[in-house]
Amino acid sequence: MTAADLVVVANRLPVDYDPSADDGRGGWRRSPGGLVTALEPVLRAADGAWVGWPGAPDVAFDPFTEDGITLHPVSLTEGEVAGYYEGFSNATLWPLYHDAIVAPAYDRTWWRTYVAVNRRFAEAAADAAAPGATVWVHDYQLQLVPKMLRDLRPDLKIGFFLHIPFPPTELFLQLPWRTAVVEGLLGADLVGFHLPGGARNFLFLAQRLLGLHTSAHSDLDSCVGTVDVGDRRVQVGAFPISIDSAHFAERVRSPHIRERAAQVREELGNPETLLLGVDRLDYTKGIDIRLEALHELLDEGTLDPEKVVMVQLATPSRERVSAYAQLREDIERKVGHLNGEYGQLGRPVVHYLHRPVDRDELMALYSAADVMLVTPLRDGMNLVAKEYIACRTDGTGALVLSEFTGAASELRRAHLVNPHDLDAVKRAIVIAATEEPATAARRMQSLRTQVLHHDVDRWANAFLTDLRASGSGTTAAASA
Ligand code: ADP
Ligand code: G6P
Repeated sequence: MTAADLVVVANRLPVDYDPSADDGRGGWRRSPGGLVTALEPVLRAADGAWVGWPGAPDVAFDPFTEDGITLHPVSLTEGEVAGYYEGFSNATLWPLYHDAIVAPAYDRTWWRTYVAVNRRFAEAAADAAAPGATVWVHDYQLQLVPKMLRDLRPDLKIGFFLHIPFPPTELFLQLPWRTAVVEGLLGADLVGFHLPGGARNFLFLAQRLLGLHTSAHSDLDSCVGTVDVGDRRVQVGAFPISIDSAHFAERVRSPHIRERAAQVREELGNPETLLLGVDRLDYTKGIDIRLEALHELLDEGTLDPEKVVMVQLATPSRERVSAYAQLREDIERKVGHLNGEYGQLGRPVVHYLHRPVDRDELMALYSAADVMLVTPLRDGMNLVAKEYIACRTDGTGALVLSEFTGAASELRRAHLVNPHDLDAVKRAIVIAATEEPATAARRMQSLRTQVLHHDVDRWANAFLTDLRASGSGTTAAASA
């Protein structure tokens, strides 16, 4: 396999290996989550390589090419999956970076496994990259890779992008390994976040924890500041991620998707209002909040169970992490209560699917739904909100959107809500469902303009352009 000029390094490959698929013969399927949704079209267009875990323990594969992308699988043992992925990544960093909604666990053996696995990813990236290549490292699972990779391959341009929120500094400071994480990230030439606030928090920590010289720029620029590390100047910036908006807008117009959208409404009993939620089953997403809001609205008689139906898709996620297992029980209990009280034979009020659906079916649902409910307690961006908007080609539909998503800073004309305020969520659902059509259409038009113009290509180009320009500027150490 020839070495590549652009290498993406992410915990997961864009496809997951499922050993039980195809009657136990094993097979590949699309990986879950927004990172893959965003990066896949970018890398396919660039003919690059992707280094990542195949999604199952104890399986090893040689590099192979799929759909124009060369995949370099990094294999992990069962113990490494437990310590690095389920443990440190998803029971320490994920909750810590999402406002500690669930208490982060600090475990020294998990940390040691995280270090060892990050080293393996850095070595795999070093093998996959051509001389002078650009290597783009992604997300919280791989924060030590930039420095490890720089030590192995000083010839590379290294970028890092964090797909989840970067936390307030006082939360980050809880992390026993906080200095090593900041040092790890500073191995990159450019460190990117979704929002300027995260970038500023990181600049503060680089100065506070490592005593490095930092400078801040105006928020209008994607580059929010710089950190001097020896003779290198690291750029720190904000790059709000997006989707392949034109693809969604075009594909959703296909006759088979339109027919399916009409069929969905019919199968659901042609409700006056169809509410939709689409998430990984994650405690950050506020699925419980929207179910509680719906329950109260039905209890009070504000919504009529004869006229409203909710569809909630919840892709299974991180099922061996205990907070996720508890969440599943809680959500399924809430769905059961709602249907027990308000459903009728053959007509539940909430249709809950605990599995992924294919992209065409998802677009048909976006197209069929009157109100999209996106109510996370915290979310780095939330691509579902953007996908829904891109699919509303006729300008109808309404989006209820949590203020605590990255998307809220761009989608100002959505029905923005504080998800901690249940009354506000209920009000927003009712307004979204009943708004006068001309006002709703103006809102949607403005949201569509934003999403169609700020697509994932623009995001990737902005990041890669800044990355290629990085490394200029003289630090105090270099000029001494
Ligand atoms: P996260 O990355 O935290 O999962 P995002 O909203 O940014 O959240 O991205 C989720 C991605 O996963 C979107 O592209 C969405 O379409 C997809 N997705 C979420 N739930 C499902 C589902 N049940 N079936 C198919 N795709 C899903
Ligand atoms: C979010 C994270 C990604 C992750 C995805 C799915 O989008 O930012 O890094 O891949 O969720 O989660 P999983 O744990 O299944 O990879």
